[in-house]
Amino acid sequence: MYSLFTYAGNKSKFQNIIQKYLIDTYSYNNIDICIDLFAGTSGFFNVVQDKKQFKHTILNDLNTSITTLLSTIKDKKEILILEVEKELNYIKNKYSVIDTQEKSQDWFFNRLEKLNFLEDKKDYDNTLLSTYFLLLNSVSFGGNYETNNGISNIPRSTDLKKYKTMNSLIIKKVEYYNNIYQKNNAVICNEDYKTIIRNYGYEDILYLIDPPYISSNSNDIKGCVSNYKNGDNFNHLELLEELDMFQSFIYFNNKHIVIDDIISAYDIKYKEIERKTTSSNQNYLKLSDFEYMLYR
Ligand SMILES: C[S@@+](CC[C@H](N)C(=O)[O-])C[C@H]1O[C@@H](n2cnc3c(N)ncnc32)[C@H](O)[C@@H]1O
Repeated sequence: MYSLFTYAGNKSKFQNIIQKYLIDTYSYNNIDICIDLFAGTSGFFNVVQDKKQFKHTILNDLNTSITTLLSTIKDKKEILILEVEKELNYIKNKYSVIDTQEKSQDWFFNRLEKLNFLEDKKDYDNTLLSTYFLLLNSVSFGGNYETNNGISNIPRSTDLKKYKTMNSLIIKKVEYYNNIYQKNNAVICNEDYKTIIRNYGYEDILYLIDPPYISSNSNDIKGCVSNYKNGDNFNHLELLEELDMFQSFIYFNNKHIVIDDIISAYDIKYKEIERKTTSSNQNYLKLSDFEYMLYR
């Protein structure tokens, strides 16, 4: 199963646990609408749709560059593939292959500047924006992506092996995601999540809820910061208190005492998932070594 690229909060690593939940829970067997409120690279939706096809799907995210990419993959696949191939040919002609730090730095920062220029111009219909966004993120230092007032900050990876992924695999990914969007009748939206809930309501929909992560070092909700910098800090409590309204949902976040309060206050199931990191010491697991999956 492909992920589009490495992105903070990408859910591919939780494939088994998410799919087990889907098999164990019958409550939405008749539900044929899926709404992913914080779609990102649509990795979460990808894992879910592998087990259940939907008649209608909404993939929403506040980050316009991401939704531009998803829309281009869905609606202008052929043109996107042509642009990606053009860029790969440009690299071949200019560098033959990107195999040194200097070459990677030269190409990376040149294309990042071009991407930021398009983002600044708000030229969201641009297939070029999608091409640069996709290629740069494919070779970035994954998971550290940020956006500030609509301008992407993509950290460059020094791992030159990553540049090998800028080949036919990237075209396969575009084809793959185009196919799952078409199969599930996806509509891509670029709204605040609250607007989507207001428009669609709580019933007969499976909601996928993967918001920015709560900082696990903070003890109360005030210390929770969003690392996406989409304006104000994300109001986690507001969303958590709304969870009880949803007929069916899957929610992810860091383990946090504020979420413990929600679990004990409402009739919501949960699973604690140990994050397998190389630094995890089994004798002394910290709060930050766990994530929560809340569901109904
Ligand atoms: C943890 S990531 C989601 C990752 C996604 N599940 C994936 O598989 O790639 C959280 C996403 O929420 C988006 N976001 C932040 N605030 C938002 C808001 N108020 N409404 C909608 N999306 C928002 C961010 O742009 C980011 O892409």
